[in-house]
Amino acid sequence: MVKDDQKGAGQAALGAPALASRSSSFRLTALVLTVVSLASATGFWAASWLRKPDPVPQGRTVRGYRDWPKPDLAIVLSGEMHGYLQPCGCSEPQKGGLARRYNLIQSILKDRGWPVVAADLGDVAQANGPQALLKYRYAMEGLQKLHYTAIGLGANETTLPLLSALGEFALNNPSPRVLAANLHNMDKDYPGMVKSMETSAGEDGVPKVTFVSVIGPSVAKQMQENDRSLQFDPVEKTLEALLPEIQKTKAQVRVLLYEGSEEEAKAYAVAAQNSPQKLPEFQIVVWLSGDLEPSEKPGQVGNSLLLSVGHKGQYVGIVGYYGQGSPFRYDLVPLNPEFETPEGHDQDNPLHALMQKYAKEVRDDNYLAKYPHNAKHPVQIAYPAATYVGSEKCKKCHDNAYDVWKNSAHSHAYAALTEKAKRPTLRQFDGECLRCHVTGFGQEGGFVSEEKTPLLKNVGCESCHGPASLHVKNPNDASIRAALNPLKAKIGDKPASRLNRMHDSCQTCHDLDNSVHFNVEKYWEKIIHTTPKE
Ligand code: HEC
Ligand code: HEC
Ligand code: HEC
Ligand code: HEC
Repeated sequence: MVKDDQKGAGQAALGAPALASRSSSFRLTALVLTVVSLASATGFWAASWLRKPDPVPQGRTVRGYRDWPKPDLAIVLSGEMHGYLQPCGCSEPQKGGLARRYNLIQSILKDRGWPVVAADLGDVAQANGPQALLKYRYAMEGLQKLHYTAIGLGANETTLPLLSALGEFALNNPSPRVLAANLHNMDKDYPGMVKSMETSAGEDGVPKVTFVSVIGPSVAKQMQENDRSLQFDPVEKTLEALLPEIQKTKAQVRVLLYEGSEEEAKAYAVAAQNSPQKLPEFQIVVWLSGDLEPSEKPGQVGNSLLLSVGHKGQYVGIVGYYGQGSPFRYDLVPLNPEFETPEGHDQDNPLHALMQKYAKEVRDDNYLAKYPHNAKHPVQIAYPAATYVGSEKCKKCHDNAYDVWKNSAHSHAYAALTEKAKRPTLRQFDGECLRCHVTGFGQEGGFVSEEKTPLLKNVGCESCHGPASLHVKNPNDASIRAALNPLKAKIGDKPASRLNRMHDSCQTCHDLDNSVHFNVEKYWEKIIHTTPKE
């Protein structure tokens, strides 16, 4: 089922579908040389509606956070949500989503009695699309409901642009705190909206964590391309100047949210290790994974763990802190369907109401009207007068093709949004969903809304063949017909090259996020509609 929230125009497909394997956990001799003896796992599992832990397989001692003894503090790290408020994609297995993150953090970990703090690297926003700013606000409100302490800034935030992003949330919400220590002149240009660092409250003897965020040179460059007014101070100089303030917090744990590459983050960790009097050291450094799949095993530089948690909100990293001098534990947790709220429990998870509010705002403020429809289909480049007419018009002359289509999923793809999509509903008003569930979205003469273009609901004949008005008027024109069937087998065509062309055309919708099991041969077989030979 459903739901990614952000397949807005320009959302690139994920490079490779992530493996959903359960992560193992690692004990990390980070700070320390002494090894603590492990208390046995608590076995405490209060969120009884969530899946019980699997038995630990033979040959492995500790599997993941489920099998850890209670830490003094669990530090939850996330990043690069890219606007994915919901699990990513339309077909199982989907990973991610703020509601599942809530269940993990606020139900499972807290029900175990673990103190938790959470922070996000940044790149909360998606890069473009009419809903990007709105989604940024909802994402930040979501992270607030998850009781995040600190959130960095990513390059995507600067496309909104930055001042709009901050005005949308940070201006009126001191918590979670938005951080970017080396944003030049932040107090003057963004008064009260961006800070260098934030320290968790650490009440009732819970260890304190100081989070600091910096923008690395590679990301700073990208940000300046997005917004020429932005300037950044050098990372080392900034952190050197912050050292006294960081020391003053007396936090047991220091986390650096490094908006930059692994190399850049590593270079800082090495520099800090070499001059600990001058530069603050961080036990945990989170870097930007970009398109990379995150590793289950963090890197290490001296006393610092270096880790990244992937993108689209599909994973969170959990660091277990067991006191000064003890090794950390780390578990990279994929937000698989096991973290979904069970039917009937939506009121236990405020993120569902928040997502419904979001979908309602998309409808009520008519975001659909903000989508341009001026793209030209290749058929319209050859024949500028060609426009969309809807599949019913084809029935008369192509009854075989019509019947195949009518019995296929494509003919009721719109109902997937009106009837199947839940948590939230109202997705037929969301351009990010409609894009692949109607005919000619974004194209000249294509779908505009259910009221204005009722015949273009669903994935129609023209979703694949292009606007066919001229053909309907003039069915005997062979060159118009040819334009409607670019995928037709050509003389001398190898079967493989035809399949490749078809694959590319199907993939405009059946992409890696939304059709994980797509296989062109198998899928085409289900909708094959060649004209019967007389
Ligand atoms: C008035 C009759 C008529 C209507 C209406 C009609 N077609 Fe056709 N179509 C034809 C004829 C005749 C051919 C040529 C014989 C064939 O391939 O079936 C054709 C061929 C095609 C081809 C194959 C082109 C090729 O050269 O391989 C496609 C694709 C096609 N039509 C799509 C559509 C679509 C989409 C619609 C509805 C929007 C539609 N047609 C409506 C009569 C019609
Ligand atoms: C990039 C194209 C694309 C976008 C964007 C998209 N979908 Fe889909 N959706 C698909 C495809 C393709 C399938 C069929 C997947 C399959 O069966 O392999 C599908 C299937 C579904 C289904 C399952 C239908 C069924 O019969 O089980 C639902 C529900 C759905 N989508 C809802 C949504 C919602 C909600 C959104 C917006 C958040 C959305 N889709 C955005 C392409 C897309
Ligand atoms: C999901 C995409 C898709 C949809 C939807 C679709 N078609 Fe096609 N159609 C194709 C492809 C791809 C081919 C070319 C197959 C080939 O050459 O083997 C094709 C071929 C055709 C042909 C030529 C058949 C032949 O014998 O050469 C006609 C006619 C046609 N389609 C009409 C329609 C009509 C009418 C509809 C709607 C009722 C429709 N198609 C819906 C993808 C689609
Ligand atoms: C404009 C977007 C779009 C294009 C292009 C498209 N599809 Fe689809 N397809 C969808 C959507 C959306 C669904 C899910 C509809 C639903 O279940 O409600 C779907 C569902 C399907 C299904 C049903 C899947 C199932 O498990 O039952 C098949 C088969 C399929 N598509 C084949 C194809 C093939 C083959 C092509 C290329 C020739 C293609 N599609 C091109 C959007 C598209």
